[in-house]
Amino acid sequence: MEQKTASDWWRSAVIYQIYPRSFYDSNGDGIGDLRGIISKLEKLVELGIDAIWLSPFYRSPQKDGGYDVSNYVDVDSIFGTLSDFDELVAKSHALGLRVIIDLVPNHCSSDHPWFQAAVNSSENSDARKYFHFKNGRGEKGELPPNNWQSMFGGPAWTRIKNSDGSLGQWYLHLFDSSQPDLNWENPKVRQEFESILRFWLDRGVDGFRVDQPHAMAKAKGLPDHPYADEAGAGFIEGREAPPMWFQDSVHEIFRDWRRILDSYPGQRAMCGEAYVLPLSLMALWVRSDEFHQTFNFRFLDADWEKQKLRAAIDESFEAFGRVGAPSTWVLNNHDVMRHASRFGGEYGRATASDGVGPDGPQPDNSLGLRRARAATLFMLALPGSSYLYQGEELGLPEHTTLESKYRQDPTFFRTKGGRVGRDGCRVPIPWLKNQPAFGFSSNGKSWLPQPKTFADHSRDIQEKDDDSTLNLYKAALRIRSSMNLGSGEFAWFDDLENSNEVLAYRNGELLVVHNFGIIDLPVPYGYEVLLASEGKNKKCLGANQTLWLTPRVR
Ligand code: GLC
Ligand code: CA
Repeated sequence: MEQKTASDWWRSAVIYQIYPRSFYDSNGDGIGDLRGIISKLEKLVELGIDAIWLSPFYRSPQKDGGYDVSNYVDVDSIFGTLSDFDELVAKSHALGLRVIIDLVPNHCSSDHPWFQAAVNSSENSDARKYFHFKNGRGEKGELPPNNWQSMFGGPAWTRIKNSDGSLGQWYLHLFDSSQPDLNWENPKVRQEFESILRFWLDRGVDGFRVDQPHAMAKAKGLPDHPYADEAGAGFIEGREAPPMWFQDSVHEIFRDWRRILDSYPGQRAMCGEAYVLPLSLMALWVRSDEFHQTFNFRFLDADWEKQKLRAAIDESFEAFGRVGAPSTWVLNNHDVMRHASRFGGEYGRATASDGVGPDGPQPDNSLGLRRARAATLFMLALPGSSYLYQGEELGLPEHTTLESKYRQDPTFFRTKGGRVGRDGCRVPIPWLKNQPAFGFSSNGKSWLPQPKTFADHSRDIQEKDDDSTLNLYKAALRIRSSMNLGSGEFAWFDDLENSNEVLAYRNGELLVVHNFGIIDLPVPYGYEVLLASEGKNKKCLGANQTLWLTPRVR
């Protein structure tokens, strides 16, 4: 069997996303931290992943869960210290895990000294050129400079007050007003980030997950979004790129970064959170001198619908394959409703990222979990690299009854509750069934309250239950690794009888089948079950079930 070499680890890696606030709290303040992660790394090795990706732990006022960075080269005291970080990297490496960190280059925090200096400087100062400051439209500059909207709701512009109290220029923020967009036309901004990259590469990180890379370059002159009425803050697939998304000039930045990464030993990798569709356009982002990989949101958005899913997979292999990049696969992250709830309701992309609150349509979490387990098995045998999000291995549902008073996502505030936001997938995870905060902290503190239903998802009870979701993930990852599925050969398998409701593919010896129908089907003739998404039900291919099959040995 082929051994994974250092030169291709990222092509087939299973990367586990840690949202540090909600992973494990080591000091009883109710917020997860780096020492908490260090103490649980063995659990991740047992799970069978190859790398961890840490959501931001940098210094930040935490207006957007740390995606508002006020110091890119330090650890926020709520998470620990730089020496905790060094220990985390050292221990991960000793255990055979790689460490990827989140880099947020499109915007910083309004608390960052760059922004503070800009606000306190004159209109044409160098300090202002780090950002997009513009005079307003209208007689007195009372209107925003253009029609751009923030992704979190409301206008993408905020007007500052001058030191004498008069109203001043406007600054651009595609996200919260506490997240001013950086001006990537300015060579100084580029230099700053090159040294930030080197700072962390020197500390031994194996790579970066790059936040919102498709937003970094803006069309010259910041013209109006031509179809903002239809697309809001976003874009419409197939139309020309709006002036704030995926501008061509962005690519040279990543080429520069790639050169920096390649100058370090040990195959450092960059993954872009590029929300670019269709995937044929996304392929430009993973050319051999740019990102190593990008997230596959087409797959995440396929809603577990047979035709959409098949098309998403075809499109992925086609687009990424054309430029020699691995496809990636993902079903969860900290921005979308957890798949164990998403698949238990009629939720499209919009609801999934806007969240569901107590007044919204509640999911059927038991149907959702069956489908989620099946979806994960379907995903983990696909060649390429897969991303998992903490808690999905426990089959956690979304917290869909979180009361408004606990909400923290800026989306909730900027839309005055119209979109409840993403807190429901960011709730601290349960470790021990019979402990306060389900063992997340020693004293029961938890920055977001956990739903009672988390009790039965706790890791301790799942460890002892052969049929648990946790043990399903472990078994799948074990087989994935021993059969080298991550670097295998994919082919659809259309030869099954009764196959209208079935989607099946082969990866080498393995046959993967999923039943989208409502009627149980027999296990295909000539095959035996290696793994089933519902452990006890091994005699048939049940509705909403995935099986991993191998040819029966006679
Ligand atoms: C990315 C992050 C999200 C954040 C946004 C702005 O989409 O995943 O959590 O709010 O960028 O930084
Ligand atoms: Ca803590």
